[in-house]
Amino acid sequence: MFRAQNVASMAHSPTAQRYNPAIVALHWLIAILVAVVYGLTYVWDGVPDEDVPFVKDLHMGLGFTVLVLVIARIVIRLSTASPPAAQSGWPFLDRIGSLAHVLLYFLLLAVTILGVTYVQSRARGIPLGFMEIPALLTDPVARDTSRSIREVHELAANALIALAIVHALAALFHQFVLRDRLLRRMTFGGR
Ligand code: HEM
Repeated sequence: MFRAQNVASMAHSPTAQRYNPAIVALHWLIAILVAVVYGLTYVWDGVPDEDVPFVKDLHMGLGFTVLVLVIARIVIRLSTASPPAAQSGWPFLDRIGSLAHVLLYFLLLAVTILGVTYVQSRARGIPLGFMEIPALLTDPVARDTSRSIREVHELAANALIALAIVHALAALFHQFVLRDRLLRRMTFGGR
């Protein structure tokens, strides 16, 4: 009980001006990696056949890295002080903004976990470059089942990118229209 209260009161601190530096680093690293991992899905359509496995392996390895970083980010976010929720002057929009943040975390987890599940459903391991996460199944599941998992993975990835674009536009709106220097909270510096 005491711990839960402690964590809840640390989550939003009225005094913190910026996010924890680890959160700031993870925010930008995850944003870049998601763009690269998504971009690779267009690259593998355009490269010669012999290079396709390499590009797909890179997609899986970097995508898995996103999963690990998102889990780390959630743990740090819940255990460190954050600035209070942003205010635009329109409480309804602020509520949508908070919901969108939760949805972004959800989609990040969903996309990456579905990617891992799809690969595992084909009884394949996940290459990480320096090691491989082994296949858990000896035989692939039914083709239709893994195809459905792959389709939901793709759908969730497209939703994630669409929401990330809206999220970025909202941040730019705060920065350049409302001029409330909201972006500053996601930069390094004194807290
Ligand atoms: C940021 C995370 C990720 C994003 C944005 C993403 C996005 C996508 C998209 C859009 C597709 C469909 C591409 C197409 O067929 O046109 C796809 C396919 C795929 N993804 Fe991901 N993905 C992510 C993470 C992962 C992870 C973690 C894995 C597995 C470890 C993974 C494995 C795959 C595989 C195996 C395919 C199908 C490749 C094929 O057609 O053979 N993805 N991904």
